[in-house]
Amino acid sequence: MFERSRKGEHALLIQPHVSEAVAVEDVLEEFVELARSAGAEVVATVAARMDRPNPATLIGSGKLEEVKAAADAAGADLIMVNHALSPVQERNLERALERRVIDRTGLILDIFAQRARSHEGKLQVELAQLRHMATRLVRGWTHLERQRGGSIGLRGPGETQLETDRRLLQRRVEQLQRRLEKVETQRTQMRRARIRSELPKAALVGYTNAGKSTLFNALTNAGAYAADQLFATLDPTVRRLRLPGGTIALADTVGFVRDLPHELIAAFRSTLSEARDADLLLHVVDAADPQREERIAQVDAVLQEIGAGDLPQLVVMNKIDRVDGARPRHDRIDDISNTHRRERVWLSAQSGHGLDLLRTALANRLNLQRIQGDLYLPLDAGRLRARLHDLHAVTSERSEEDGWYLRVDLPLNEIERLAMQSDGAPLRVLLPAPDNLRE
Ligand code: GTP
Repeated sequence: MFERSRKGEHALLIQPHVSEAVAVEDVLEEFVELARSAGAEVVATVAARMDRPNPATLIGSGKLEEVKAAADAAGADLIMVNHALSPVQERNLERALERRVIDRTGLILDIFAQRARSHEGKLQVELAQLRHMATRLVRGWTHLERQRGGSIGLRGPGETQLETDRRLLQRRVEQLQRRLEKVETQRTQMRRARIRSELPKAALVGYTNAGKSTLFNALTNAGAYAADQLFATLDPTVRRLRLPGGTIALADTVGFVRDLPHELIAAFRSTLSEARDADLLLHVVDAADPQREERIAQVDAVLQEIGAGDLPQLVVMNKIDRVDGARPRHDRIDDISNTHRRERVWLSAQSGHGLDLLRTALANRLNLQRIQGDLYLPLDAGRLRARLHDLHAVTSERSEEDGWYLRVDLPLNEIERLAMQSDGAPLRVLLPAPDNLRE
């Protein structure tokens, strides 16, 4: 049931057509990528309308025949369904199609199993797999038990193989849970040590394959693993990142995907907690992906699920080398439309173009860059003067007949915020020259 897909295994993909709102080609394209990430060679695809899902086999009997014929013709030895299947549906499909059948959850679990590198990542994947498997065994087992008229408390000789398997499975789940608890405690201690060091924290999040690891490497020269496969990153790595004005901790995290199976969200909660604990999320987007806005919304939905939905975000539009006419630029909050509520930096992690804009934006958002300077405020700028005092930004002040002469010290982003308002005009003299790359 949960064997890994071996490289080159020939797969036929069934793409259920669920809603009119989503183009079947788009979901199919992602599914094909997922299948390839698992190491399968996709030999055929079949789209299936799902107006009335069949409880026994998900797809209708006519479609089932079509799939069987297509699988025979293409020499497929594995069927993948881009939908969650109940254990009964999986079994019925396997029988009817005479091949192994994997659903979307099974496929993603398989990819995670192949990619997990750290001890903790491996434990988490195994736990998620066993839990997924247990639901299947438990149902088979209860069914058998009912036939025997119930045997709770009467285990012993004669018990079925399934019962033994189930108890072994339960023992393994408990063992894994104990180990994970230990690893999590260690992780919490490490995190506390990091908090004690009081570095501001940023975490890279984003749809799988958006380029998080590449960006992480480009920023920190850490040499974290990047590959053109989905979910290349399964374990967060945290590195120090030196920026103009100070140092921060930067964490890379696992790639998100639409409809991440719940087993995995639960299992990866601690891994994803790197994102939850951040002061700022760097939301990396593949700017060349035609569906980039949908991807952003899908990542936001996962962030909401892990309790990181309200954290401030800086969006990184990556891979501009693949977008016609795109150049590095920084869209600040005041010059982006309502639909793009967040600051966006456009760059290419691979070529390095635009990384300097990101470094500056990061430093500003994390209040690293402070500006000290002398300022003249005319008499009609009394409100601005009061605001600067409220921010404890005034280090000394002299009042003259024509206004006030102030010495100020405050974070660059505060200056930008105040300068955006009309009475903040005098503050513009303190702002650094606009980046010449900005469009
Ligand atoms: P997951 O681990 O799946 O979450 O992926 P990730 O977001 O960490 O992506 P990764 O850094 O592994 O990059 C995915 C692919 O995109 C790799 O083949 C990278 O070489 C490629 N890539 C990353 N950045 C750029 C870029 O700026 N331009 C181009 N053309 N390709 C890029």
